Amino acid sequence: MSEKVPITAAAIRARKGQGPKIVVLTAYDYLTARLASEAGIDIILVGDSLGMVLLGYKNTIAVTMEDMLHHTRAAARGNRDCLLIADMPFLSYHVSAEQALKNAGRFVQEAGAEAVKLEGGERMAATVEKLVGAGIPVLGHIGLTPQDILNLGGWKVAGKGEKAAQGLLNDAKTLQEAGAFALVLECVPAALAGEITRSVEIPTIGIGAGPECDGQVLVSHDLLGLQDQVSPRFVKRYADLKGEIGRAFSAWRDDVRSGRFPGPEHCY
Ligand code: KIV
Repeated sequence: MSEKVPITAAAIRARKGQGPKIVVLTAYDYLTARLASEAGIDIILVGDSLGMVLLGYKNTIAVTMEDMLHHTRAAARGNRDCLLIADMPFLSYHVSAEQALKNAGRFVQEAGAEAVKLEGGERMAATVEKLVGAGIPVLGHIGLTPQDILNLGGWKVAGKGEKAAQGLLNDAKTLQEAGAFALVLECVPAALAGEITRSVEIPTIGIGAGPECDGQVLVSHDLLGLQDQVSPRFVKRYADLKGEIGRAFSAWRDDVRSGRFPGPEHCY
């Protein structure tokens, strides 16, 4: 049996215009990463969304380097052939390009990441250049950038209106020039995401950015129906694990209380 070739950032970059579409899923732990690998997902993103879906924060601001390193290590242990990308958390790359390099270096040296993601367009170009120059592949992230939530005041569609659309096009091109191997476009009108996708030579990966992107990313907990507190329009649920888990927990409770568990087959 031939071994599957591990997916690299360079291989993702080379998929531009080639197909098939790039499939990206978040995973924050060993088991989910293993299941994603076995399902043939291209990229595992250890997103800072873990702050909301795993740690119960209302946004991603409180997520720390230590949180991200801990979960990246766990996901790396479960990963087989996917490209493993760690999300750089709030303020871990804003102070200076040197600070960004030091922290990005920790993800690849200490946690098994093969690339990092950071939010921001033109304002992050020098930082992206620094990391790429040091040998760390960077996935850009523009459009709705959740780490800007305190400035934005809420989750909003980005790039609405001519000026904002031009700003995003410029951000995309600037990040490409800085060396990013691909770009996440979050909550961008589908037509604009299509225009950005056609304007750059690196793949775009959409979340709430329509069908013309070169790939798609979803938060695994959303796709699995594990959480229903927020339900953005761009989520498609492929399972109802919250319902399944609730039913299993209740059945176990009832079995214990009624004496149906443990049965003879569970006893020594
Ligand atoms: O943190 C995250 O999971 C993300 C994706 C939704 C793109 O940034």
